[in-house]
Amino acid sequence: MIRRNPALAALAAGYLFPEIARRRRAFQEGHPDARIISLGVGNTTEPLTPHVTRRLVEAAERLGTRAGYTGYGDEQGLAELRAKIADVLYGGLVAPDEVFVSDGSKCDIGRLQLMFGGGIPVAVQDPAYPVYVDGSVIAGAASRAGADGRYGGITYLPCVAENGFMPDLAALPRDGLVYFCSPNNPTGAVATKAWLAGLVKEAQAKGCIIIFDAAYSEYIRDPALPRSIFEVEGARTCAIEVNSFSKSVGFTGVRLGWTVVPRELAWEGGSPVAADWNRIMTTIFNGASNLAQQGGLAALEPEGRREGAALVAHYMGNADLIAKGLAAQGIASCGGDNAPYLWAAFPGRSSWEVFEEILERCHVVTTPGSGFGPCGEGFVRFSAFGRREDVVEAVGRLVRLGG
Ligand SMILES: Cc1ncc(COP(=O)(O)O)c(C=O)c1O
Repeated sequence: MIRRNPALAALAAGYLFPEIARRRRAFQEGHPDARIISLGVGNTTEPLTPHVTRRLVEAAERLGTRAGYTGYGDEQGLAELRAKIADVLYGGLVAPDEVFVSDGSKCDIGRLQLMFGGGIPVAVQDPAYPVYVDGSVIAGAASRAGADGRYGGITYLPCVAENGFMPDLAALPRDGLVYFCSPNNPTGAVATKAWLAGLVKEAQAKGCIIIFDAAYSEYIRDPALPRSIFEVEGARTCAIEVNSFSKSVGFTGVRLGWTVVPRELAWEGGSPVAADWNRIMTTIFNGASNLAQQGGLAALEPEGRREGAALVAHYMGNADLIAKGLAAQGIASCGGDNAPYLWAAFPGRSSWEVFEEILERCHVVTTPGSGFGPCGEGFVRFSAFGRREDVVEAVGRLVRLGG
């Protein structure tokens, strides 16, 4: 018999979302008349926008003709799309050949961890999008979690109210891989340009590479806040950026993302990281869907950009409603101003206990903060990706938490 991969054996059970689903089901069985509303997950709910939909249909029809059919494309993506991402989204801060188009940023995060391998220290914000930690464990970069839920070999960088949800940079490991997500999932915190400049400086001093996750960059409303780490001087020598069309134009199901690997980024000894990333992508990835890429091109045309901005504004309208609803109940929260998540504080209480209370009293599903890391204890996350009518109703029910 083949021995089980010890890295997989080290991985704790995928607990969070199955457990949420289990508790929701159990509540529904006990309360068959309750109309449960989910403000828990980060999945989009609005339909694709008209211009993008039209282009997708046209692209599908072209594929049904002999002249318009295409099979495998370049693994790095359509040249036109790479150029458009570099131009429209980065204003030329990155070059088209530094943009690698993919089937989404979650998949890229997994492949990046494969590229880095298991032999390096990893640092993550705590709390963080779970894929950074779990992907690192699968790649063998961590040992089994202790009783406190923290894996060995991973540096957890506390992001708490006291530090404005921005970690202590002095804690970065030497020669390590640092995951940093801004706007952050789950806290909704966004790094300023000055703060990112400090991160870049520290990463350079310690020989670290940052994986900057900008999946929610389009949700930044404050024009002074950076949407890309490449707005910061020096980032090209120490950062990789992942991003996606999922949350900006509702491609969570269509699947399209990209990773930027600057050509200056090098390994110890000087060989370029981009060459290895290219090798990974051409070996175990076969290119993003040709249809999805046509959708991405449409989303970057002026009409697609306008539609995307309206879509984001719609979800941010939900975030505003949730923020007001929480404030009306005296519940402190952060995020929601430049991010589609609100991080609601219930100091001294267990996240799961708060989750249960909101489910029982309001019939609303949230996400317990402890599922994103030990420092998430005492918080629950509200997502702004629900349908407007559901958000309005869910917010109205929050009054039941009072008293
Ligand atoms: C922080 C963060 N990064 C990446 C992703 C994954 O996005 P994609 O749909 O591009 O795989 C998500 C999805 O929720 C996310 O929250």
